[in-house]
Amino acid sequence: MVSTMDNKVAIVTGAASGIGLAIAQELAMRGVHVTLSDIDEKKGNEAAAELPAARFQYANMTSENDCQRLVADTIRAKGHVDILVNNAGIQHVAPITEFPVSKWHEIIEIMLTAPFLLTKEVLPGMYDRKWGRVINIASVHALRGFGLQICVRGSETWTLGANPRDGVRGSRARRHV
Ligand SMILES: NC(=O)c1ccc[n+]([C@@H]2O[C@H](COP(=O)([O-])OP(=O)(O)OC[C@H]3O[C@@H](n4cnc5c(N)ncnc54)[C@H](O)[C@@H]3O)[C@@H](O)[C@H]2O)c1
Repeated sequence: MVSTMDNKVAIVTGAASGIGLAIAQELAMRGVHVTLSDIDEKKGNEAAAELPAARFQYANMTSENDCQRLVADTIRAKGHVDILVNNAGIQHVAPITEFPVSKWHEIIEIMLTAPFLLTKEVLPGMYDRKWGRVINIASVHALRGFGLQICVRGSETWTLGANPRDGVRGSRARRHV
């Protein structure tokens, strides 16, 4: 059976394990050409090798250059990007008085800046083709704080709150949460 997703092209960040891997597997099974991206090259390569029409690309979400290269190389390899799944994330739990500033910056880079950069890179092509999906993975912490998860909450509030109507052209843009 031909799926409506056949030959679409997706990037999934943090796709070497967990939720990102499950999303990449599901998309691949529906005929999507998936770029699995992660800092774990071994697991990422192994996962991509198991999936039809998939490729792995190392990209550290703390690097602006890696984010831009991820999109550019996927377009070079597959022609365009239809679906972006901003999934990579880490967590650090500590009272605010003990929360390392370096960890704050790392979480903000991975879970806030990288989704912004990747979205910025993929949108022009989606506008041109009049089709695209940007899916931001976050948690209930974006909406309601839990004790020691201050930083995750701040970054996820943007990823859930990032609304096509705020910064994305096109009156038919909708948010899928
Ligand atoms: N598991 C949960 O209960 C849960 C709940 C709510 C939200 N989430 C969110 O879902 C997403 C995935 O969570 P998960 O449970 O599958 O986690 P996971 O740890 O299994 O997977 C995260 C992946 O991100 C990768 N990663 C870490 N730092 C990276 C970096 N700098 N650059 C690129 N990749 C990096 C890791 O290598 C890993 O493969 C995260 O954003 C997390 O905050 C998870």
